Amino acid sequence: MASFRDICFTPAEFASIAKIDRSEISALESRGILKTIKKRMGNVERKMISLEGMQEYFRILRDTEFDMNPETTTSTLENGTGALAAGQPVAVATAFKPGLPKHKIQMFYNVKGGTGKSTLTAQYVMRAAMMGYRVLAIDLDGQGHLTVNLDILDGHERATIYDVLINDLPLQDAVMNVAPGLDLIPANLGLCNIEIPLNNKTRREYRLSEAIAKIADQYDLIVADTNPAASILNGSMLVASELVNVVCATNPLSFHGMSLVMSTIEELEREFRRQLEVRIIPNMYDNREVISQEVLGELRAQFPDHCSKSVVNRCVDLNEATKRRTTVWDVNSKGMAAQDLNSLTEELLFIN
Ligand SMILES: Nc1ncnc2c1ncn2[C@@H]1O[C@H](COP(=O)(O)OP(=O)(O)OP(=O)(O)O)[C@@H](O)[C@H]1O
Ligand SMILES: [Mg+2]
Repeated sequence: MASFRDICFTPAEFASIAKIDRSEISALESRGILKTIKKRMGNVERKMISLEGMQEYFRILRDTEFDMNPETTTSTLENGTGALAAGQPVAVATAFKPGLPKHKIQMFYNVKGGTGKSTLTAQYVMRAAMMGYRVLAIDLDGQGHLTVNLDILDGHERATIYDVLINDLPLQDAVMNVAPGLDLIPANLGLCNIEIPLNNKTRREYRLSEAIAKIADQYDLIVADTNPAASILNGSMLVASELVNVVCATNPLSFHGMSLVMSTIEELEREFRRQLEVRIIPNMYDNREVISQEVLGELRAQFPDHCSKSVVNRCVDLNEATKRRTTVWDVNSKGMAAQDLNSLTEELLFIN
């Protein structure tokens, strides 16, 4: 079982993520934009792209100013490796060139439990890391499910956001590396005891945003998973966030709780004079169930400005990814969950 750190992509998988034709891979390799490795699969050696190879590809695209049309243009800048010489035509006509995330600090939120917050947070941060962003994931739930989903099993021995907010540990000292481009502030059961001491602190709601601000320039994206409650800790993250991703399971009780969630967010916006971008993500959708269709219809009707275009279907690949503590890409790169997470990731990264 490969962990996310060791994940490798086939040329076909890479082409689908990079949105290029597979036939363009050799040209990318020869220009030094993409590095491939040889991996032994049984008796055969196959060309593969490592996680770092994929990240480097996206970073070169982002950091290099060149026109995408190979017919008419030449590159105008050399990339960091010097492999793409100035004046050389670039063969990536169709390249998908994602810029930096629109909202750097984001959170997944819902006071209702079990809607899929931790699952989607983990999948989202891993998918964003695949695109070469420097990502920090923060686990704000004492259950530590984001921590486990990112394959960290010794979270009980590590510093958490409790130590940062209550014991004044510098946030940097609570950060651990999970994989290339992906860091984590883990959580453990001790975090469940944070509410009383946090309540007694001065500027309690600002402590988290002030701590995050100190390290924010080291990352392109900072994403928190929260606990299923209207807690002070979650309130602090609402104060720190620019984008709130509310995960709503497409069932009646989850839909019922949405008005409370939205009014909690509005109250905080008023109290802290902030304007938050909110996305409601319909999760566990099953188009064979009338109730699922009804709830999705209601979400779109009642929250037309907030409901995400992307819907995450109920799919066993996500359960499997949770069990294997890896990305759905590793479970089934052609499956519905991988496709859903692709479009969700792009929507949340580049939302207008
Ligand atoms: N789209 C989906 N399809 C299938 N299973 C899913 C989907 N989304 C989440 N799950 C599964 O639902 C379960 C609960 O998900 P998760 O732990 O992410 O919810 P949560 O909102 O974080 O819960 P809590 O409120 O307790 O923190 C997990 O077993 C997860 O694998
Ligand atoms: Mg959770």
